[in-house]
Amino acid sequence: MSITFDKFTDSFHLQAGNTSYIMQVFKKGYLAHLYWGKKIRKPVIDEMLLLMLRDSFSANTDSSDEMLSLDTLPQEYPAYGNTDFRTPAYSIQLENGSTITDLRYESHTISDGKPTLLGLPATYVESHDEAQTLEIVMRDSLIGLKVILSYTAFENLDVITRSVRLVNEGSTNLKLLRALSMSLDFNKSNYDFMNLSGAWARERHIERNALSSGNKSIESRRGASSHQHNPFIALLSGDANEDHGDVYGFSLVYSGNFLAQAEIDQYQTTRVSMGINPFDFSWLLKPNEEFQTPEVVMVYSSEGIGEMSRTYHKLYRTRLCRGEFRDSVRPILVNNWEATYFNFNAEKIEAIAKVGKDLGIELFVLDDGWFGKRDNDKSSLGDWTVDLKKLPKGINNLANSINTIGLEFGLWFEPEMISPDSDLYKANPDWCIHVPNRTRSQARNQLVLDLSREDVCNYIINAVGSILSSANISYVKWDMNRNITEIGSPSLPAKRQRETAHRYMLGLYKVMNSITKSFPKILFESCSGGGGRFDPGLLFYMPQVWTSDNTDAVERLKIQYGTSIVYPASTMGAHVSAVPNHQLNRNTSLKMRGDVAMCGNFGYELDLTKFSDDEKEEVKSQILKYKDLRKLIQFGNMYRLLSPFEGNESSWMYISEDKTEALVTYFRVLAVPNAPIRKLKLKGLDSNMDYSITDKKNIFGGDDLMYSGIDIPNLFGDYQSMVWIIKCNPLDK
Ligand code: DGJ
Repeated sequence: MSITFDKFTDSFHLQAGNTSYIMQVFKKGYLAHLYWGKKIRKPVIDEMLLLMLRDSFSANTDSSDEMLSLDTLPQEYPAYGNTDFRTPAYSIQLENGSTITDLRYESHTISDGKPTLLGLPATYVESHDEAQTLEIVMRDSLIGLKVILSYTAFENLDVITRSVRLVNEGSTNLKLLRALSMSLDFNKSNYDFMNLSGAWARERHIERNALSSGNKSIESRRGASSHQHNPFIALLSGDANEDHGDVYGFSLVYSGNFLAQAEIDQYQTTRVSMGINPFDFSWLLKPNEEFQTPEVVMVYSSEGIGEMSRTYHKLYRTRLCRGEFRDSVRPILVNNWEATYFNFNAEKIEAIAKVGKDLGIELFVLDDGWFGKRDNDKSSLGDWTVDLKKLPKGINNLANSINTIGLEFGLWFEPEMISPDSDLYKANPDWCIHVPNRTRSQARNQLVLDLSREDVCNYIINAVGSILSSANISYVKWDMNRNITEIGSPSLPAKRQRETAHRYMLGLYKVMNSITKSFPKILFESCSGGGGRFDPGLLFYMPQVWTSDNTDAVERLKIQYGTSIVYPASTMGAHVSAVPNHQLNRNTSLKMRGDVAMCGNFGYELDLTKFSDDEKEEVKSQILKYKDLRKLIQFGNMYRLLSPFEGNESSWMYISEDKTEALVTYFRVLAVPNAPIRKLKLKGLDSNMDYSITDKKNIFGGDDLMYSGIDIPNLFGDYQSMVWIIKCNPLDK
């Protein structure tokens, strides 16, 4: 049993994989957090809280008990206003204007499996024995507020998920001002705070800083999870590295405005909170209505950051992503964006596809510019009808001719947007997110459709759906190229204006659900100016993401390495592009560009017709190699060896589940004169197995490769890369 309730101590013990998570219904019905970490066989509950209780300057909720202050009690879902002065998990304004609420334990249920979250993406199970779920009902009886705290413990993974449902069982309106998905109190403060930050073309760079008194938070207010901050944080023990130390990961399954925060208080305890960003948020909850928060996926690792990542990879690859492509290898594609931008016609597209076929490419993706009168980024978003000037015979005909050449056909959309210069805007000027009489600020000359409106959502479902049913389309790139400004929806009443951002996300999820369910054979890849919405929420609908608009091989080392902290290689689109690189003007070798792009869903994004014969031969062998290795890369376990954030070199490897096969990569950015002699210690192999390595005559023991390492050859010149393929000696199998 992974979840138990002990009625003598009123405590819950959740066991997920090798971890324990322990709570207690404490005095007066407050729900106290006792422990989260490595599995404890027989926790002594009565001892667990003692240290944390203080007779202090803090106020007491019960005048007869000076030891009971919520200010010092570690809690599961704290409120503000009745003795706890730390960050609250939720806040509700009552009709009388007060924001004081008080939740006490009422009941609980434990059930097998994991329920779905109404209208929201979430991890799932495929059979009831994969997880158990605990629902704890908390109540504020004065106002009839019921709060259901939901916890799922996965049986074989060190994963606990949390989410919350707030139900108005009273007779008056409640206004949610804050409704986070989780709050958790650690009884220590000497942690580092790790997060993934960046900007457009520089997404998910790793940051790690020691926490100190007060708050450290990351957030998005952009209407998307954002290029700037990924909805993920981890607390790391000071000594934690890739392979050792305590790591506590928090990842929010949501694609909109979020907040992730760690607060260190007066007693050097740490409160972590995560959920929808309370900034500019409120939600009117009428009697009998309920509000569902998104899910937080919490992963504990006692073996460093690497093990946390592998747990997220496995969970997200197999129990977050869905559909036919979840378990199947992804096609090698060529995308025409950096090859032609808006300037193409059917002949050009077919010419690229023909070369692609000769080289071994499997899918052609037609990017932006095929619809309306879109010769630049100034018009036509929303007008999803083919531009017959560029493609006189239409999409169906083009798809057929690409199929005849021998490639699958894929198409780009940006369904959430509307260009002011479009027929759609002329017909429906109110369909965009806007505030009456205010400027409608444009970004990339476009506005955002108001997905809080059902009619707008239905328009998208029908417009995209009718193109998808009109031709043999096997892949869709779903782009989204701006953040939301002047947020508001004139279709909502004044008191609901601050619901717009979340209603947008609910609308988006509904649209994506409907389209992906109607076209189960299509592989969907999401994109937001590259990786501006690379989050678990979207992975639920679309199993891969265009990682970044930055295709420079050197920059991609950091972007892909940082992304791998949470997300598996099977979710990352990675393409070889032309040199000089369009984002940075840097020249890197075709080999390095290929080796970097192979560490994800591989493709090319350049004009293949411009390759020399030698380059074509090199590309052919890259493609053959990737076909051989893609299963290992897309579905293997990843071990990071050298970090691009720490120097001139990067290295990581992928190992098959049975450890019989591995791929090791090594990249060196700048040449080093008279370089020191170096060995690369591998990880994750079986120390008792023997392995062969590309280009080496000897057979090596797994222990030898991990403890002594392999030689890094003396590479000559900038932008060098090496790939070793390691196979277990057949006699060992
Ligand atoms: C941004 C995407 O990230 C690019 O790959 C490309 O699809 C452009 N949009 C097209 O406008």
